[in-house]
Amino acid sequence: MTAVRILLVTGSTRSASTNTAALRTAQACAPPGVIATLHDALAALPAFNPDHDHEPLPGPVAVLRAEIASNDALVFCTPEYAGALPGSFKNLLDWTVGGTQLSGKPVAWLNVAAPGRGEHAVASLRGVLGYVTATILDDCCIRVGVGHDALGPDGLVRDPDVRARLAQVLADVATHVRSR
Ligand SMILES: Cc1cc2nc3c(=O)[nH]c(=O)nc-3n(C[C@H](O)[C@H](O)[C@H](O)COP(=O)(O)O)c2cc1C
Repeated sequence: MTAVRILLVTGSTRSASTNTAALRTAQACAPPGVIATLHDALAALPAFNPDHDHEPLPGPVAVLRAEIASNDALVFCTPEYAGALPGSFKNLLDWTVGGTQLSGKPVAWLNVAAPGRGEHAVASLRGVLGYVTATILDDCCIRVGVGHDALGPDGLVRDPDVRARLAQVLADVATHVRSR
Protein backbone atom coordinates (compact mmCIF):
# COMPACT_ATOMS: atom_id res chain seq x y z
CA MET A 1 0.00 0.00 0.00
CA THR A 2 1.42 3.38 -1.02
CA ALA A 3 1.72 5.81 1.88
CA VAL A 4 -0.55 8.85 1.87
CA ARG A 5 1.31 12.08 2.58
CA ILE A 6 -0.55 14.70 4.61
CA LEU A 7 0.78 18.20 5.25
CA LEU A 8 -0.26 19.68 8.60
CA VAL A 9 -0.47 23.48 8.59
CA THR A 10 -0.83 25.48 11.77
CA GLY A 11 -2.28 28.97 11.89
CA SER A 12 -0.48 29.88 15.10
CA THR A 13 2.99 31.34 15.54
CA ARG A 14 2.89 30.83 19.32
CA SER A 15 5.51 28.45 20.68
CA ALA A 16 3.06 26.83 23.13
CA SER A 17 0.23 26.84 20.59
CA THR A 18 -2.66 24.48 21.22
CA ASN A 19 -3.38 24.40 17.49
CA THR A 20 0.17 23.34 16.67
CA ALA A 21 0.06 20.85 19.56
CA ALA A 22 -3.07 19.26 18.10
CA LEU A 23 -1.33 18.84 14.76
CA ARG A 24 1.84 17.50 16.41
CA THR A 25 -0.31 15.02 18.30
CA ALA A 26 -2.03 13.92 15.11
CA GLN A 27 1.41 13.49 13.57
CA ALA A 28 2.61 11.42 16.54
CA CYS A 29 -0.52 9.25 16.40
CA ALA A 30 -0.67 8.94 12.61
CA PRO A 31 -2.05 5.56 11.52
CA PRO A 32 0.02 3.12 9.46
CA GLY A 33 0.23 4.17 5.83
CA VAL A 34 0.12 7.88 6.61
CA ILE A 35 3.16 10.14 6.53
CA ALA A 36 2.26 13.40 8.27
CA THR A 37 4.57 16.42 8.01
CA LEU A 38 4.17 19.66 9.92
CA HIS A 39 4.72 22.94 8.08
CA ASP A 40 6.28 24.92 10.90
CA ALA A 41 7.64 27.97 9.09
CA LEU A 42 4.58 30.21 9.25
CA ALA A 43 6.52 33.08 10.82
CA ALA A 44 9.29 32.85 8.20
CA LEU A 45 7.00 33.86 5.34
CA PRO A 46 7.42 37.44 4.12
CA ALA A 47 4.37 39.68 3.94
CA PHE A 48 2.53 38.80 0.76
CA ASN A 49 3.33 41.14 -2.10
CA PRO A 50 2.09 40.41 -5.64
CA ASP A 51 5.24 42.11 -6.93
CA HIS A 52 7.27 39.23 -5.47
CA ASP A 53 4.95 36.42 -6.59
CA HIS A 54 7.18 35.22 -9.40
CA GLU A 55 10.32 33.12 -9.88
CA PRO A 56 12.59 33.16 -8.04
CA LEU A 57 10.11 33.09 -5.18
CA PRO A 58 11.16 34.06 -1.66
CA GLY A 59 12.73 30.94 -0.09
CA PRO A 60 10.02 30.21 2.50
CA VAL A 61 7.32 30.60 -0.17
CA ALA A 62 9.08 28.16 -2.49
CA VAL A 63 9.34 25.68 0.40
CA LEU A 64 5.64 26.09 1.23
CA ARG A 65 4.51 25.56 -2.35
CA ALA A 66 6.81 22.55 -2.77
CA GLU A 67 5.43 21.01 0.41
CA ILE A 68 1.85 21.49 -0.76
CA ALA A 69 2.69 20.00 -4.15
CA SER A 70 4.44 16.95 -2.70
CA ASN A 71 1.67 16.06 -0.25
CA ASP A 72 -1.58 14.32 -1.13
CA ALA A 73 -3.75 16.34 1.26
CA LEU A 74 -3.58 19.07 3.88
CA VAL A 75 -5.03 19.42 7.38
CA PHE A 76 -5.19 22.92 8.89
CA CYS A 77 -5.59 23.97 12.50
CA THR A 78 -5.83 27.66 13.30
CA PRO A 79 -6.84 29.91 16.14
CA GLU A 80 -9.24 32.79 15.66
CA TYR A 81 -7.96 36.32 16.21
CA ALA A 82 -10.34 39.27 16.43
CA GLY A 83 -13.17 37.35 14.81
CA ALA A 84 -11.11 36.26 11.80
CA LEU A 85 -8.07 34.27 10.72
CA PRO A 86 -4.74 35.32 12.25
CA GLY A 87 -3.01 37.73 9.89
CA SER A 88 0.10 35.58 9.62
CA PHE A 89 -1.98 32.56 8.60
CA LYS A 90 -4.02 34.56 6.08
CA ASN A 91 -0.67 35.69 4.74
CA LEU A 92 0.31 32.03 4.22
CA LEU A 93 -2.96 31.40 2.43
CA ASP A 94 -2.46 34.49 0.25
CA TRP A 95 0.88 33.07 -0.90
CA THR A 96 -0.91 29.92 -2.11
CA VAL A 97 -3.21 31.83 -4.48
CA GLY A 98 -0.52 32.47 -7.09
CA GLY A 99 0.44 28.79 -7.18
CA THR A 100 -1.89 26.10 -8.42
CA GLN A 101 -0.81 23.56 -5.82
CA LEU A 102 -4.00 23.76 -3.75
CA SER A 103 -6.36 23.44 -6.71
CA GLY A 104 -8.23 20.16 -6.33
CA LYS A 105 -6.12 19.20 -3.30
CA PRO A 106 -8.11 17.44 -0.56
CA VAL A 107 -8.15 19.60 2.60
CA ALA A 108 -9.67 19.44 6.07
CA TRP A 109 -9.32 21.32 9.33
CA LEU A 110 -9.49 20.88 13.06
CA ASN A 111 -11.17 23.46 15.28
CA VAL A 112 -9.63 23.05 18.74
CA ALA A 113 -11.24 26.16 20.26
CA ALA A 114 -13.63 25.98 23.19
CA PRO A 115 -17.28 25.28 22.35
CA GLY A 116 -18.82 28.15 20.39
CA ARG A 117 -15.42 29.75 19.69
CA GLY A 118 -13.38 29.86 16.51
CA GLU A 119 -16.34 29.68 14.13
CA HIS A 120 -15.43 32.89 12.28
CA ALA A 121 -11.95 31.54 11.62
CA VAL A 122 -13.35 28.29 10.26
CA ALA A 123 -15.86 30.13 8.07
CA SER A 124 -13.11 32.34 6.67
CA LEU A 125 -10.83 29.35 6.09
CA ARG A 126 -13.62 27.62 4.18
CA GLY A 127 -14.04 30.71 2.02
CA VAL A 128 -10.35 30.99 1.18
CA LEU A 129 -9.97 27.29 0.45
CA GLY A 130 -13.01 27.47 -1.81
CA TYR A 131 -11.47 30.44 -3.60
CA VAL A 132 -8.33 28.45 -4.40
CA THR A 133 -10.56 25.53 -5.47
CA ALA A 134 -9.24 23.07 -2.92
CA THR A 135 -11.43 20.01 -2.36
CA ILE A 136 -12.90 20.41 1.13
CA LEU A 137 -13.43 17.09 2.91
CA ASP A 138 -16.35 18.11 5.13
CA ASP A 139 -16.53 14.69 6.78
CA CYS A 140 -12.95 15.11 8.00
CA CYS A 141 -13.37 18.60 9.49
CA ILE A 142 -13.87 18.21 13.21
CA ARG A 143 -14.22 20.25 16.36
CA VAL A 144 -12.25 18.84 19.24
CA GLY A 145 -11.45 21.02 22.22
CA VAL A 146 -7.77 21.32 23.13
CA GLY A 147 -7.32 23.69 26.05
CA HIS A 148 -4.08 25.15 27.30
CA ASP A 149 -4.08 22.59 30.14
CA ALA A 150 -4.58 19.62 27.81
CA LEU A 151 -0.93 19.20 26.94
CA GLY A 152 1.52 16.89 28.65
CA PRO A 153 5.20 17.58 29.33
CA ASP A 154 6.01 16.40 25.81
CA GLY A 155 3.79 19.18 24.39
CA LEU A 156 1.28 16.69 23.01
CA VAL A 157 -2.39 16.25 23.91
CA ARG A 158 -2.68 13.81 26.83
CA ASP A 159 -6.32 12.69 26.51
CA PRO A 160 -6.41 9.30 24.75
CA ASP A 161 -9.88 9.98 23.32
CA VAL A 162 -8.72 13.24 21.74
CA ARG A 163 -5.59 11.53 20.45
CA ALA A 164 -7.76 8.83 18.88
CA ARG A 165 -9.99 11.43 17.21
CA LEU A 166 -6.98 13.27 15.80
CA ALA A 167 -5.56 10.02 14.44
CA GLN A 168 -8.95 9.18 12.95
CA VAL A 169 -8.97 12.44 10.98
CA LEU A 170 -5.71 11.44 9.31
CA ALA A 171 -7.08 7.95 8.65
CA ASP A 172 -10.25 9.41 7.11
CA VAL A 173 -8.32 11.87 4.95
CA ALA A 174 -6.11 9.01 3.76
CA THR A 175 -9.20 6.97 2.88
CA HIS A 176 -10.49 9.86 0.76
CA VAL A 177 -7.16 10.18 -1.00
CA ARG A 178 -7.00 6.45 -1.74
CA SER A 179 -10.57 6.44 -3.08
CA ARG A 180 -9.87 9.16 -5.67
C1 LIG B 1 -5.07 38.91 19.69
C2 LIG B 1 -6.00 37.79 20.01
C3 LIG B 1 -7.29 37.80 19.53
C4 LIG B 1 -8.16 36.73 19.78
N1 LIG B 1 -9.42 36.75 19.24
C5 LIG B 1 -10.22 35.67 19.40
C6 LIG B 1 -11.48 35.62 18.75
O1 LIG B 1 -11.88 36.52 18.06
N2 LIG B 1 -12.25 34.50 18.93
C7 LIG B 1 -11.84 33.44 19.69
O2 LIG B 1 -12.55 32.45 19.78
N3 LIG B 1 -10.62 33.48 20.32
C8 LIG B 1 -9.83 34.56 20.20
N4 LIG B 1 -8.59 34.59 20.79
C9 LIG B 1 -8.18 33.44 21.61
C10 LIG B 1 -7.27 32.52 20.82
O3 LIG B 1 -7.91 32.02 19.68
C11 LIG B 1 -6.85 31.40 21.75
O4 LIG B 1 -6.01 31.95 22.75
C12 LIG B 1 -6.13 30.26 21.07
O5 LIG B 1 -5.86 29.27 22.00
C13 LIG B 1 -4.84 30.65 20.46
O6 LIG B 1 -4.35 29.56 19.74
P1 LIG B 1 -2.92 28.91 20.02
O7 LIG B 1 -2.98 28.30 21.40
O8 LIG B 1 -2.79 27.87 18.97
O9 LIG B 1 -1.88 29.98 19.88
C14 LIG B 1 -7.72 35.65 20.58
C15 LIG B 1 -6.40 35.65 21.07
C16 LIG B 1 -5.55 36.70 20.79
C17 LIG B 1 -4.14 36.65 21.31
